[in-house]
Amino acid sequence: MALSPQWLDELRMRTSLSAVVGRTLRLTKAGREFKACCPFHNEKTPSFYVNDEKGFYHCFGCEAHGDAIRWLTDQRGLPFMDAVKELAAEAGMEVPVPDPQAARRAEQRASLHDVTAAAQDWFESNLRGADGVQARSYLGRRGFSEATVREFGFGYAPEDRQALKRALGRFEEPMLIEAGMRIMVEDKEPYDRFRSRLMLPIHDTRGRVIAFGGRILDSEANPNAPKYLNSPDTPLFDKGRTLYNLHRAAPAARQSGRMIVVEGYMDAIALANAGIREAVAPLGTALTENQIELLWRQVERPILCFDGDKAGQRAAMRAISRALPMLRPAHSLVIVRLPTGMDPDDVIRDQGVGAIEQLLAQPASLLDTLWDFEKAASPLNSPEDKAGLKARLLDHVDSIQHPDIRALYKRELLERFSAYAFPPRPPREFRPRSEWQKGGFKPPAPSLSPEARDSLTRAMAGGARDSLTRAVIAGLVKFPDQILRHEDALSDLARRDQNVGPALDSLLEAAETLDLSTQSTISLERGLPAPPAKTLFAFLDEGIDPGDAREDLAEAVSLLVERPALESALAEATARFERDPEGSIADQGRLRERLLALNERLKRFGRRKAAADGESDT
Ligand code: UTP
Ligand code: MN
Repeated sequence: MALSPQWLDELRMRTSLSAVVGRTLRLTKAGREFKACCPFHNEKTPSFYVNDEKGFYHCFGCEAHGDAIRWLTDQRGLPFMDAVKELAAEAGMEVPVPDPQAARRAEQRASLHDVTAAAQDWFESNLRGADGVQARSYLGRRGFSEATVREFGFGYAPEDRQALKRALGRFEEPMLIEAGMRIMVEDKEPYDRFRSRLMLPIHDTRGRVIAFGGRILDSEANPNAPKYLNSPDTPLFDKGRTLYNLHRAAPAARQSGRMIVVEGYMDAIALANAGIREAVAPLGTALTENQIELLWRQVERPILCFDGDKAGQRAAMRAISRALPMLRPAHSLVIVRLPTGMDPDDVIRDQGVGAIEQLLAQPASLLDTLWDFEKAASPLNSPEDKAGLKARLLDHVDSIQHPDIRALYKRELLERFSAYAFPPRPPREFRPRSEWQKGGFKPPAPSLSPEARDSLTRAMAGGARDSLTRAVIAGLVKFPDQILRHEDALSDLARRDQNVGPALDSLLEAAETLDLSTQSTISLERGLPAPPAKTLFAFLDEGIDPGDAREDLAEAVSLLVERPALESALAEATARFERDPEGSIADQGRLRERLLALNERLKRFGRRKAAADGESDT
């Protein structure tokens, strides 16, 4: 193939992808993109997007992705060259005649993957050769079996600064540098990055070698050298998007339903050596959002297995802080705290694999770990200390994006905070309740202030932006005992939506000042317009089971709060496209999926209602 990347870029630039796709697919405009139902999988709501600016299409449902050429080969079934010729004819470009010499050069131009693969072969052969004696005996001392050494691809990099260059002479210097194998400083002679080190290959999810870690063998002789040296970020290797050992751990995790995150390479290997194959490690950095997503693709609750000392706990907290904004139903992290000063490798060596299995079987929840960490962070001797702890807890809560999870964390953490900061006093003497309470009298009906009544009337008469909002307000008026249950969600919404803010605020105020548990609901409803007779929402009907109604109302509240949160998150992810295309697309996909699910939940109300009406008709 003699087409240069530059020529292909020119072709893509002169091609309007939406025009090409639009010939076989009906596209509708969606902002700066076009959308359609995806032709590569069966769907009813569009998740297939075409972006002319970027020149690619992407399906958030089935991940189909490509440019104009790919469209013609995959959708129309054309051979690559035919696709190119068709597009070139339309773009008014000449397809270059194949040049046999250029073709040969292109074949010879090896990819960076070939460099790392060749380096890996060479490191492994060094380990088996005369140079590798010291490294071999080091591996023996660490107790790794011959099978483990082979499986994990241990190798050795000799001391000589030019040895790799000589061994991989068929690759040009710039490629060796680009692959991270050689270092160039100013205009000095480049030199090998890894020298006198035990070498460990790092793989991508497809099992291709993309980078290396090198461990020093004799720390005493080189007290100032870093214990581990890693490849720099290269076109093949992005530290924050890679997990060591994931390509081996993922299949094992699918079998066991468990995924373990340890701090070091050697820990992942020691676990595998002991028969626990589903362990991965970040690469010398704190866990990133991307790595958490990678883990959640395998299991819902990956186990972080960190050292019990301060540094290990801080690392766990950093991972927790990253995870909080990303939490979604059923997805979390759990945390195993190892004995102080020990990593998993040490535990296995000292106490055997049974000890680590036992620890792994009893991880602490994310919430417990968060609570323990903040509780232990400083003593509680003064009101200021207490306020400090409460503020830190609420900061964590605020970072949670998912409204239900945020509300649940807030409730749980504040309950723990109160019990801890204000332990219950010894019980007070019994005092009889007031006369009317004893007599079982109903208290006088409370009344809303005229302003509160006004704001509610306005919201219910159409100030609210849609029927869901109106139904929720009417539902809360009908079931005022439910208002405080949704306190967080409602105050959030009040802040965000000015049309209903005053109405929600007055409901919240009413719920706090009136003793609603003993009130009849009539007192709130009196003087307010009745909810529309026909709504989607059965919880507003007369005669519906009050328990069901309250649960339906709760679902409606969560939909109401989730939707604007999702919409603004989606807008934010879309706006990020220029800076971070890959992350933006991944987030957009996830968020669109959640919006779809949310709309489904909304539709379910309608169906439930129809079913309920049908029942009452017969
Ligand atoms: P540790 O120092 O805990 O290493 O670093 P370890 O896994 O226990 O290694 P052994 O048992 O001493 O051989 C944990 C991780 O931090 C990164 C590496 O990714 C390592 O696996 N690290 C550590 C570095 O990148 N550079 C260093 O100098 C040290
Ligand atoms: Mn170790």
